Formats: sequence, C-alpha cells, structure tokens
Amino acid sequence: MVKITIVGTGYVGLVTGACFAEVGHQVVCVDNDLKKVAFLQGGGIPIYEPGLEELVKKNVASGKLRFTGQIADGVAHAEVIFIAVPTPPKPDGSVDMTFVERVAREVAGAMTEYKIIVDKSTVPVKTGEKVAQTIKRYNKQKVEFDVVSNPEFLREGCAVGDLLHPDRVVIGVAGDRPVEKMKAVYTPFQAPIIVTDINSAELIKHACNSFLALKISYANALSVICEASGANITDVVTGMGLDKRIGRAFLNAGLGYGGSCFPKDISAFVHIAQELGYDFRLLQEVQNINAEQAARFLKKIHETLWIVKDKTIGVLGLAFKPDTDDMRLAPSLDIIRPLLKEGAKIKAYDPQGMEKAKEFLPDIEYCRDAYAAVEGVDALVICTEWKEFQSLDLAKLKSLMGHPTVFDGRNIFDPKRMAELGFTYASIGRR
Ligand code: UDX
Repeated sequence: MVKITIVGTGYVGLVTGACFAEVGHQVVCVDNDLKKVAFLQGGGIPIYEPGLEELVKKNVASGKLRFTGQIADGVAHAEVIFIAVPTPPKPDGSVDMTFVERVAREVAGAMTEYKIIVDKSTVPVKTGEKVAQTIKRYNKQKVEFDVVSNPEFLREGCAVGDLLHPDRVVIGVAGDRPVEKMKAVYTPFQAPIIVTDINSAELIKHACNSFLALKISYANALSVICEASGANITDVVTGMGLDKRIGRAFLNAGLGYGGSCFPKDISAFVHIAQELGYDFRLLQEVQNINAEQAARFLKKIHETLWIVKDKTIGVLGLAFKPDTDDMRLAPSLDIIRPLLKEGAKIKAYDPQGMEKAKEFLPDIEYCRDAYAAVEGVDALVICTEWKEFQSLDLAKLKSLMGHPTVFDGRNIFDPKRMAELGFTYASIGRR
C-alpha cells in the first residue's frame, strides 16, 4: 500500500484516485473547488463515466479514498503526490501551464519531508525540469524531493477499464531513488512498466496522441479517395487493420476527432516542435484533414437538401464520442452551428450529452429519445456512434421522419440496407 495524494479531481485525477484506491492504496484527492470537494465527499460524481460512481462510493465507504480542499492536508498524507490539473490550450495553440506551476508551488510550500511529485497532466517536453526548479524555489523547509513524469493514457468513456488494465505504465525519472516507490504504486495493475528519463516520458504522451490522430486523419483522407473511386472505406480499413503492423484501431473514418485531448494535444505538439526548431508539417496536415471533414459533410447535406433555411433537421449524438457526456470540441458542434446559422431548426437527442450540450447549443430542441428527435424532420444527421443507435427500428424511424433522408457521419448503418428500406442515405467513404 502506498499513501497517495492526487491534486486535481478532473477526469484524470478523479478516475486515477478511484482506481488507486481500488487496488489497495490509501488515496486523498485534493481540489481547490470546495463545492466540488463537498459534492464528491457526499457521494456525488460531477462527470458521467461508466463504472466510476460505484468505484468512488465503494472506496469512500471503505475509507481508502477521501477528498479535501486543503493542499497541506494532501501533502502531509502522501509519499507520492500526483499533479493532475488541466493544461488548457492558449489561443496560439501552446499550453497554459499556470495550474501545474501553481500546484508545484503549493506542494513545495507544504512539504516537511521527502516527497515524490509526479506529473500526470499532459505537458510539453521539459516540463519536469521546470517543475523541479519551481519546487526547489518554494521548498521552504529545504526537504529532499524527486520529480517524476507519469503520463496518463486513459480514454473518456472507458477510463476505469483503461486505468485498471493499462497497456503499459511510463515512468520518467531523473535518478533511481523514486523508482521502487513508483513501481509499488503500479505493481497491482500487472502492466509492463517502462522507466525512462523525464523528457522521453513527457514526449511519449504527445507522440501517442498525435499518432492516433494521424491514423484517424489517414482514414478520413482515404475516405475521400473511396468516395471518388467508388471503393468502400470500411472494407479498406478492415483489410489494412488485419496487418498486425498496422492494427484496426483508430482507423474509423467519420466526422473527425474532437474532445478535450486530441485537438489540444496535436496543436501543443506542433507548437512544442516549433519551439524546438522543427516544423512538424505532418501533424499540421493531420489537423487540416480533420477540420475538412465537417466541411465535406456539410457539403453533402447541401447537395441533397439544397437550402436548409426553415428545414427541420434531426441530430442523433452530440457528445464528442459515445459513452461520455463531454461536449468539448465535439464534431457535432461543427455541423449543428453552421446549420443553425443558415436558419435550420435542430431537434437533437444524445443518451448522456444533452445537459452539457445546453451550454454549447442553447437554441436547439432537446428530445426525450431518438424517435422523438426524428419526428417530422426533413433529414436526420448522425454525429456520434452511440451503440443504442445501431439497434434503432429503422422502419419506425422512416415512418416518423417527414423525409427519409439520413446523413450518417459515423457510418453506423449499412448503405445497402438503408437503400432497400427506401432511405436516401449518405455516409463517409461508402456508397
Ligand atoms: C484520447 C486518447 O485515446 C487517450 O489515450 C488520451 O489519454 C486522451 O485522449 P479521448 O479523447 O478520451 O482519449 O477519446 P478517444 O477514444 O481517443 O477518441 C478521440 C476522438 O477521436 C473522438 O472524437 C472519436 O470519435 C475520434 N475517433 C476515434 C475517430 O474519429 N475515429 C477513430 O477511429 C477513433
């Protein structure tokens, strides 16, 4: 058992805290939002993440997980302190490191004995050096410490599973002293552990996210060739994915990637490369291709509907991907906002995302289920591939729609079957 403190109870901090407690560590989660701390301590969960609520409740009840607003409380408790605060993008695409710096200062001020301070937030390469300098400067009692980089690879929607069963654990260190303790933190997870220098560990995270985004943009670029040549993108990526060197994951063509990580991390990596003197044109093209997907899809809508003003369009799926309520940089926004601007009326349904969507899209009608969202519409647009949409009764859907026209931005239906059922159907990279 390791005594752990996690500073920041956002997605990464909260799920990491709950999973560390679940495998037997003694965990304190710190947040400076006192309302959030009280909400969490009372059993509330501020985000939708499958399996998280049970895990938090169970471990709070057993005393292995607690929440506090006091950083000194967290620092006193821990042998290992994880920094898991946001690293949001600045307008120029570079990373705003204000929160990490502040936590480093606060932790340093409260340290009275040796601590391991671990950076879990996604940060630019060379951040470890800066965190170590900051801690040294604000380390009132001049106690010894080590800074470690330990990037997190969890995905929203399956964060608990990703954390409990990671593909690998990356530990970046400047010396040997923190290695055994860090291994003790991760031994219960039974995953390969790779120990590197701090800069390499930091780079691994940006390198992974950028590579995954590259795979998505590659599939999206291929989908354009498929449409132009009459080939089928699903077959093409299936054929590619069976090659073990390539793999099938992250080759789904669609409306492109969104969310709080990929867009921000790819911009950050381009920026970091620039600062290091390298023009990462490959990644800039990944971004361009991603941005073009929404424009291409809107063009398809216009080609069929011609004028969208005063037409009613149903939308299924708002969240940036299934199994989450997260609306940050959701591709649905790049479709719905232009349609609204042109005077279309939008009726939408998302299994989890509607509450959060109201902040982003106050002027659309939110419906109780998928069938209500298609009633009387001129066309239906699918923006997120929730599983429940795949089992919709298509005959019923058709009978409810004003016009049976479907624009499927996530390729969830079979074009042949849709044609047989009498739909006008357009998807991505397939005929
Ligand atoms: C991502 C990384 O996967 C994770 O390792 C990292 O820690 C955080 O960033 P996340 O943003 O939660 O996780 O979602 P992910 O499942 O990776 O999907 C990102 C976006 O890519 C979504 O908008 C998704 O719809 C899109 N996507 C994914 C595709 O368009 N096609 C695919 O084949 C896969």
